Amino acid sequence: MGTVCVPGDKSVSHRAVMLGAIAEGETVVENFLTGEDCLATMKCFMEMGVEFRGPDRGRLVISGRGLRGLREPRRVLDAQNSGTTIRLMAGILAGQDFFSVITGDDSLRSRPMGRVVDPLTRMGALILGRRNNTLAPLAVKGGNLKAIDYSSPVASAQVKSAVLLAGLFAGGWTFVTEPCKSRDHTERMLRHLGAEVEVRGNRVGVSGSSVLRGSRIAVPGDISSAAFLLVAAAVTPDSDLTIRRVGTNPTRDGIIEALLRMGADIRVFNTREAGGEPVSDIRVRSSELRGTVIMGDLIPRLIDEIPVLAVAASMAAGETVVREASELKVKESDRIASVVGCLRKFGVDIRELEDGFLVRPGNRLRGTEVDPGGDHRIAMAMAVAGLVSEGKTVIRGAECADVSFPGFFDVLKSIEKE
Ligand code: S3P
Repeated sequence: MGTVCVPGDKSVSHRAVMLGAIAEGETVVENFLTGEDCLATMKCFMEMGVEFRGPDRGRLVISGRGLRGLREPRRVLDAQNSGTTIRLMAGILAGQDFFSVITGDDSLRSRPMGRVVDPLTRMGALILGRRNNTLAPLAVKGGNLKAIDYSSPVASAQVKSAVLLAGLFAGGWTFVTEPCKSRDHTERMLRHLGAEVEVRGNRVGVSGSSVLRGSRIAVPGDISSAAFLLVAAAVTPDSDLTIRRVGTNPTRDGIIEALLRMGADIRVFNTREAGGEPVSDIRVRSSELRGTVIMGDLIPRLIDEIPVLAVAASMAAGETVVREASELKVKESDRIASVVGCLRKFGVDIRELEDGFLVRPGNRLRGTEVDPGGDHRIAMAMAVAGLVSEGKTVIRGAECADVSFPGFFDVLKSIEKE
């Protein structure tokens, strides 16, 4: 099956645009993800006067305007399908003393925004939205923020990041404590650009007198995209696949831990650092998988990989249980319902639980027609299911994969052929 690379990390690419835009001087981003989500973030900043060159073969140059240099957008900002765009931008907009409105597509307009509106309002921003300020569109009039010490009820990097970004515009230190640690790309990149950041376990702080300086940011390959290929290779007999330069940040590498627990033959090697993030090469060979239990602190470390993990579970011997994963219900779709609905159509014995699902082994997967409801990760997970099924599989609206993994189907075909 050979050697492949996956596109740049979505979370890191979003943050590179946002922090580059409010840094002093130029930021050069390499391996920027040109998926639709990150392009939506770029467009929002263009509306606020930020200039970009590229992306050209993954290279994006951002002319930073400094913390006080954004201008009031004349139009409504459109985050499209991207939760990271709207929630992190809410943090930055809360720091601006101008008026802005941000919205998104049907999916995004039904996802919870109260989780960022609450802390940002406590910091002094005025934010209004539909349904008692819990749904987008959000109208923001910011400025004059005060630092807070916030205990977040959810382990969410989007909430943590929104508060930390707003903290850059507040006097003193802003802290966020989470029930368990979510991905830490924001705090790493803030440091990389020169901000004063303090990390103690699940508590993170940023100083409001920080200055961000433009820098070079090398974006690692996205482990969430690599996950589809890892599972495809793990469950396809006689596979041997190496994926190069994948981000293996310990807050993101839960998929590797889970697959290893399931008996996958995976080796992570050649680990080095790029732009404040660890990257590694990963080799995976096919093997017999067994069921496992996924819950607790592991959940935020593999939250986006759970749909494809369900596909691995349906090829394993023994039951797999995923619990404490209610957050899946408020992603681009209700991912518990959509994974269960789609995999049942393949003939998998899978049952929805209140906060996860249970997969029982034994049934051979049969090709079918599924509708991922426009959710990119469901579409790609079902493509992996289709690969290991008998007969033909049709995925409706499969082009939604472009949200995070442009070229996914070509890469999948290429590894299948070799
Ligand atoms: C992301 C955080 C996670 C993740 C999403 C990207 C980020 O969401 O599911 O795909 O870039 O910060 P939550 O913060 O809602 O957990």
